[in-house]
Amino acid sequence: MGAQAVSLAVSTLLFITFTCCTDWQLMALADTEYVVINNALNESGGQKFESEVGETKAQSILTSATQFIRNTFGYDAGNPSKVVDKVTLYVDDEPTQGVVAFTSSDVSGTPNAYEIHYSQNYVDSLNGVEGVLYHEMTHVWQWNGQGTADGGLIESIADYVRLTAGLPASGWGQPSEGNKWDDG
Ligand SMILES: *[C@@H]1O[C@H](CO)[C@@H](O)[C@H](O)[C@H]1NC(C)=O
Ligand SMILES: [Zn+2]
Repeated sequence: MGAQAVSLAVSTLLFITFTCCTDWQLMALADTEYVVINNALNESGGQKFESEVGETKAQSILTSATQFIRNTFGYDAGNPSKVVDKVTLYVDDEPTQGVVAFTSSDVSGTPNAYEIHYSQNYVDSLNGVEGVLYHEMTHVWQWNGQGTADGGLIESIADYVRLTAGLPASGWGQPSEGNKWDDG
């Protein structure tokens, strides 16, 4: 076999490998369904969510967050990934002194489904909402060591992801996000 034939064979193989992996990644991303439910339409924060963000933009933020987080965790480079079929974002009418947002697995027990609860009291700007959603989506995708991982570490990783995505909180430490993501 001449050098040219070998070179052609190698590039064909690389092309097939690359195409195959790219398709697989796209399929993995397309597999996650995002649902947005605003239960606070009668409150100012809920209305602000509609005007500043809205359903379509919220879904695209969640999709981008998934890509960013999967990349950060190396899930598309061979690190074992969690399976996430569905993420439902709820905008809720919560007490003013409550948490900004928290994430849990689906309360009805549907496997590989997660819910993010965002308090309408803390809906400010599009940028602010984006930062909180990147933080919460990190909880969706991160492993927690079967419940043994330290809560502080889990929070630090979520804040690290948010920061490296270029979405720092305007007042770090001001009402904190919840840590209930794996209570259920
Ligand atoms: C919005 O609806 C909730 C639930 O029915 C209620 O508790 C709350 O007081 C309402 N808020 C306003 C501003 O009417
Ligand atoms: Zn958190």
